[in-house]
Amino acid sequence: MEKGLLSVSDLGPAEIESVIEQALAMKRGSTPSLLAGKTLALLFEKPSLRTRVSFDVAMQQLGGHAIYLSPNEVGLGKREPVADVARVLSRYVDGIAARTFFHQTLVDLAKYSGVPVINALSDQEHPCQALSDFLTIYEKKGRLRGLTLAFVGDGNNVANSLLLAASLVGMNFRIASPVGYEIRKEILDRARSFAHDGGSEIQFVGEPHEAVMNADIVYTDVWTSMGQEIEAKKRRLVFSIYQVDYEMLSLAKGDALFMHPLPAHHGEELAAGILDSRQSVVFDQAENRLHLQKAVLARVLL
Ligand code: CP
Ligand code: NVA
Repeated sequence: MEKGLLSVSDLGPAEIESVIEQALAMKRGSTPSLLAGKTLALLFEKPSLRTRVSFDVAMQQLGGHAIYLSPNEVGLGKREPVADVARVLSRYVDGIAARTFFHQTLVDLAKYSGVPVINALSDQEHPCQALSDFLTIYEKKGRLRGLTLAFVGDGNNVANSLLLAASLVGMNFRIASPVGYEIRKEILDRARSFAHDGGSEIQFVGEPHEAVMNADIVYTDVWTSMGQEIEAKKRRLVFSIYQVDYEMLSLAKGDALFMHPLPAHHGEELAAGILDSRQSVVFDQAENRLHLQKAVLARVLL
C-alpha cells in the first residue's frame, strides 16, 4: 500500500486480513496520537455522508486533521488540471482521499501526487466500503473464507470491490445482474485469477433468487449510482425484479446477513422494512467505515 489504495486488489490476502485485524484492535482501544501532526485532504467530486464524516472523525480520533474540499471549491480538471491539483496538494497535506466520477482521475492524481491517494469511491471501485464490509462480516461470522456472498443488482463500483475482495480472501461470490449491467470483463478476469489461487468460486446467475439460495450474505446497492442520474427511469424498469424483499431474503440461510452500503433507495433495490429486519447489519457496516479507515490511514500515512 506504498502509494495509497486505489483498488482493493492493491492489497494481497494477508494484507486484507491484517488491515481487518488492526481495525478490530483500533475499535477495541484508542490510539489517540498515532497520526498527530498529519493532515488528510478530502477531495470530493460527488456528495457523501459516511465517507466524508468517517474519514474526518478517523483523523481527529487519531490526533490528525482533515480538510474537506467540495467539488465547487477545487474544480478538479476544470478550474485547474488534475496533475496540478495533485502537485499543489502534496506540498500541504500528508495524504489525499478522493471521490471522483472517473477512476482515471484517481489514477492521474496518484501519478502526480507526492503523497498517498486513497480511493473514496470512483465509478470503478469503492475499496474502503468493501474492506469495512469484510470487517463487519468477520465480526458477525468469525471468518471470511468459505462463506458465500450473493450480490443482487448492478455490477457497479461496490460490486467490483466486493468481488475482488471476496476472490482474494477465499469467499465465494454469486451475482445476478440484468443483461448489460454485469461486472466488466477486466474486473472479472482479475477476480478469476485471484479466486483460482484462493480456492473460491465466482458465479454469474440469471435470476436473483438463484443467487441468494443458501447464501451467507445477501448484498444489494442502488440501481442508479451517483453520476448516472439521467438513466434512473430506465434503470427502475430494468431492475424491477431485482428488489430484495423478505421472500427473497428467506431463500438465503436462516442466519444470513443483509448488507447495503447506504444511501438506500427504499422501495427500489430493497423493500420497505428490510433495513430494519433482524438480519440487517447496515448500520454496523456504516460504523465500521470509521474503524477500518483508521487502519487504512495508519498504514498509508505512517
Ligand atoms: N457508503 C458510502 O460511501 O456512503 P456515502 O456516499 O454517504 O459516503
Ligand atoms: N454505487 C453507489 C455507491 C454509493 C456509496 C454510487 O456509486 O453511487
